[in-house]
Amino acid sequence: AERKAELKEQIKQLLKDRNAVLVAHYYTDPEIQALAEETGGCVADSLEMARFGRDAEADTLIVAGVRFMGETSKILSPEKTVLMPNLEATCSLDLGCPIEEFSAFCDAHPDHTVVVYANTSAAVKARADWVVTSSIALEIVEHLDEQGKPIIWGPDRHLGSYIANKTGAEMLMWQGECIVHDEFSAQKLNDMKALYPDAAILVHPESPASVVDLADAVGSTSQLIKAAEDMPNQTFIVATDKGIFYKMQQLMPQKTFIEAPTAGNGATCKSCAHCPWMAMNGLQAIYNSLTEGVNDHEIHVDPALREKALIPLDRMLNFSA
Ligand code: 13P
Ligand code: SF4
Repeated sequence: AERKAELKEQIKQLLKDRNAVLVAHYYTDPEIQALAEETGGCVADSLEMARFGRDAEADTLIVAGVRFMGETSKILSPEKTVLMPNLEATCSLDLGCPIEEFSAFCDAHPDHTVVVYANTSAAVKARADWVVTSSIALEIVEHLDEQGKPIIWGPDRHLGSYIANKTGAEMLMWQGECIVHDEFSAQKLNDMKALYPDAAILVHPESPASVVDLADAVGSTSQLIKAAEDMPNQTFIVATDKGIFYKMQQLMPQKTFIEAPTAGNGATCKSCAHCPWMAMNGLQAIYNSLTEGVNDHEIHVDPALREKALIPLDRMLNFSA
């Protein structure tokens, strides 16, 4: 505990010295979220992180999240130094959507508008017409559907089916998934619901359709927090990464939040409702990013790629502005 307190103080000083801010996602560990709040950084969903990083008056951004978030920040702020506590922190959606294959898929359907989830590499974004995050995907696809153009959607098939069902849009789907949300079990959730009849069920749309079907509210991390604040229920069953409980408990100490059950248990599930890549953002790793050679931590995006990826990203940011 002493070492942690010391690390925190050192990080605070380093952030000041470097004119750096900490931009953290709701899935990072509670102490990282608390530190971001204490130091004038932000804790947010993917869309808000992108905006905050772009608008921050800082020389350096420490992105406590996963690689696509660091890349997005760099694309939006090429003049800033963007550091990640651990460059190995990736995402199963990004890993499951290699640019060569995705590009071939798009080439095979040239009449389609290409919409990609933010959870992708800079190269995949550069191949897209639109980038979306879970908080704005529905509105953007609705807007595109009104223009009557068929859509290529990648890479999250669960979020894709949710949106296709909601909007009726014609969507050709890439078959990727998030290893964290894919493990929530509808059957076990139903059993749990019987135990807590007054609880509302909050579900992130990266979860399977069978789980989404049981939801009282579906949305991005920020939208789920907002839903818990707006709903009269005292108890919530939450199907998303457990990192989100920090903010929910902080904002609503009088309410009770319960983890939705996963198909496996501690011994067999791959993630158990906590993303292994988000978990790489520890205090020591943040300290290292501010002290070690930048080569081990800095995000680079090829300038030609950056220029292309900026177009669909800006489209999203302007759409939601
Ligand atoms: P949001 O915070 O945009 O809901 O993203 C969820 C996610 O899985 C990020 O990795
Ligand atoms: Fe990717 Fe899922 Fe981890 Fe988010 S929680 S970074 S979508 S693997």
